[in-house]
Amino acid sequence: MSGAATRPAGRHQGPGANKAPELVLELERVIKIYPGQPPVPALRGVSLSVAAGELLAVLGPSGSGKTTLLHLAGTLDKPTAGTVRVDGLDVRKLSDRQLAGLRASSVGFVFQQFFLAEHQRVLDNVADALLYAGARLAERRDAAANALQLVGLGHKLGARPIQLSGGERQRVAIARAVAGQPAIVLADEPTGNLDQATGSSILDLLAELNAAGTTIVAVTHDQLVAGRMRRLVRMLDGRIISDTAVGPAAAATESRGPDESGEGLAE
Ligand SMILES: Nc1ncnc2c1ncn2[C@@H]1O[C@H](COP(=O)(O)OP(=O)(O)OP(=O)(O)O)[C@@H](O)[C@H]1O
Ligand SMILES: [Mg+2]
Repeated sequence: MSGAATRPAGRHQGPGANKAPELVLELERVIKIYPGQPPVPALRGVSLSVAAGELLAVLGPSGSGKTTLLHLAGTLDKPTAGTVRVDGLDVRKLSDRQLAGLRASSVGFVFQQFFLAEHQRVLDNVADALLYAGARLAERRDAAANALQLVGLGHKLGARPIQLSGGERQRVAIARAVAGQPAIVLADEPTGNLDQATGSSILDLLAELNAAGTTIVAVTHDQLVAGRMRRLVRMLDGRIISDTAVGPAAAATESRGPDESGEGLAE
């Protein structure tokens, strides 16, 4: 069976729970070198822990390793060295099949290019994402309809992606990512292809999902996006150069770095 079956119990703990929140993602001294002439060191020793309920932005210039970090966190790729634990499981110890199970049950992806099946109904785009979690068709469609309702597209279940706006497409992609109630949602520049107003509504949606208990890690270039997050991780040249709590919850206890003047604009 899938390795996901052995995951620790009680992972969907909201931010307000009494116990210390468990870690849904842990990277320990992770190194990623892409082979080639010359090899590319994309991550040069990255350690990062994300607890259940966090809303975290990963920032950094192009080429600093953000997407690589997300791919490793989502078990789409393996580290050259170091440890990646997703939902408590060390990915190095899992077979490819178990990894597929872990991805299906624990990780939701949202990409800049929405990657929807254009010819398929919105409902089935979302329901198909649950195939590998082993649910039956009726259950998949129920979960898909619920997720689409959650993102404000309950009235578009039968539409094809081609009939939707960019913001609506990204909502479908987000519904697809959250339909299986994953431990963590990884979003790679989710507003990168959207105009500012549409991007802002997508951020509202991510913040709402987070308030309802979904753990979210979002890569962005956008200071405005960063300003809506609770924690900012900055990367440069394959390393994490700062990791700061921000926003209303942290404002009373945390001081901001000197280069973070753009944050909090949207508050
Ligand atoms: N599949 C690959 N093979 C070889 N090198 C790669 C591969 N993917 C990424 N790289 C290199 O690894 C480094 C980090 O890339 P990555 O895509 O993680 O950056 P990024 O921070 O997401 O950048 P951007 O903001 O442009 O999306 C870059 O130097 C890139 O050229
Ligand atoms: Mg990238």
